[in-house]
Amino acid sequence: MYQEIDVDHINLELPPPLDEPDRQYYYIAKCREQISAFREKNGRNPIACITTFGCQMNARDSEKLEGILKTVGYEIGEEESADFVIFNTCTVRDNANQRVYGRLGELKGYKRKHPDRKIALCGCMMQEPSVIEKIRTSYPFVDLIFGTHNLYKFAELLYALQGRDDMLIDVWEGTDSIVEDLPVERKYPFKSGINIMFGCNNFCSYCIVPYVRGRERSREPEDILEEVRRLVADGVVEVMLLGQNVNSYGRNLKHPMSFARLLREVEKIEGLRRIRFMTSHPKDLSDELIQVMKESEKICRHLHLPVQAGSSRILEAMNRRYTKEQYLALAEKIRREIPDIALTTDIIVGFPGETAEDVEETIDVIRRVQYENAFTFIYSRRTGTPAAAMEQVPEELVKANFDRVLKTVQSTARERVSRYRGRVMDALVEEVNENDPALVTGRLSNNILVHFPGDASLIGQIVDVSLDECHGFYYMGHRV
Ligand code: SAH
Ligand code: SF4
Ligand code: F3S
Repeated sequence: MYQEIDVDHINLELPPPLDEPDRQYYYIAKCREQISAFREKNGRNPIACITTFGCQMNARDSEKLEGILKTVGYEIGEEESADFVIFNTCTVRDNANQRVYGRLGELKGYKRKHPDRKIALCGCMMQEPSVIEKIRTSYPFVDLIFGTHNLYKFAELLYALQGRDDMLIDVWEGTDSIVEDLPVERKYPFKSGINIMFGCNNFCSYCIVPYVRGRERSREPEDILEEVRRLVADGVVEVMLLGQNVNSYGRNLKHPMSFARLLREVEKIEGLRRIRFMTSHPKDLSDELIQVMKESEKICRHLHLPVQAGSSRILEAMNRRYTKEQYLALAEKIRREIPDIALTTDIIVGFPGETAEDVEETIDVIRRVQYENAFTFIYSRRTGTPAAAMEQVPEELVKANFDRVLKTVQSTARERVSRYRGRVMDALVEEVNENDPALVTGRLSNNILVHFPGDASLIGQIVDVSLDECHGFYYMGHRV
């Protein structure tokens, strides 16, 4: 799924082109030569393994890296046997960073045993200068570090890596450009994420994303539609439009376009069955979007609407730019207009200055909105963000508050999700059940999972399933 460039017929005698993505195709061809030499020497293809630590956008980036690796001749395999190990990192909360350091520690011995194997780090964590310093001193065996803005340059970096012993670091502070049309290797043949925009301009006071992903940039609608068309031609039935704040899509385009209008255009693509998107910022969610969702046959009955906190005072300190009342009114309007919609959210507990009373406000929101699911996070102090300089809440208080929030989420979600019992709904079959091979796992339009008897031949199909037993956040069912 990429531009029809014939990599085998690129003239490598010429200097590399300056234009993108042509330049990267040139390096892909160069890397292929290196891989044939590897094959001749070792009698096999080299193996690469990418681990994704972050969000859907991070996962989509990994698919792009994998696309390049496969095009140059790598096979994708397990970390133990890999000639090339890549960690695509996340830094939204400190525990994501700690997991990366833990895994890097494990790689130390591996690199000692196999010095010719390469290790690369990329993703959001690499945009932080303090991280680069730490890796230089504590993990000097890492071969390559690159950031979020120059991911498209992976083929060129891969080529530059050969024959080098020192650490190659290429991290950019920012970029205005969007380079596309490079190979992508999808994790699922039948569904795909699609970036519609990059970066974020919101600067919520706790959040590091705007610093590591840069300013908001929207892709041209025609490029997005063309990518969706190509995906559909390649067997995709469900797309997830990705951006940190999809509701502000298109504002900075030369010919501005709203997200709702983009959705209307995506809807028209024949053969596409389901449309999802992530993430919606409540402050920018328009009536036009609600209307489009209501009228749509393809947009899934699910809206992820992060509230973050219930107290208007905390929301203000978070720079979320809505109050508790505005959020509740919005949620109510959405539930009223689209009655079968599932609402999910993100909640942070322990933001600086948050008291037990503030947390009661969050619990009140959960009870009133009755989310189908909610991701609850303990506030993590991120260096360089405004909230890092505010007075932090003692750990014991945060823990107690977190437990209360989690309990409320679990009980209200259970109650809400159980309402679908006995209904027949269409599920996109995603995989054979991990624990029981006699079952398959399907995703309902409202994002709830259902497990039911079936086999691998159903994967990628949309089938009708009766929702028989509710188990908290998921269902057991049978095909009808
Ligand atoms: N752009 C999206 C979210 C991106 S990050 C949005 O605005 O909704 C995903 C989630 O991580 C956020 O919704 C928030 O709940 C959480 N998060 C971000 N920064 C955090 C921090 N410093 N500590 C704890 N959770 C955080
Ligand atoms: Fe972070 Fe806020 Fe941007 Fe989401 S909208 S990525 S929480 S700054
Ligand atoms: Fe995503 Fe983590 Fe980066 S949440 S945008 S991978 S910091």
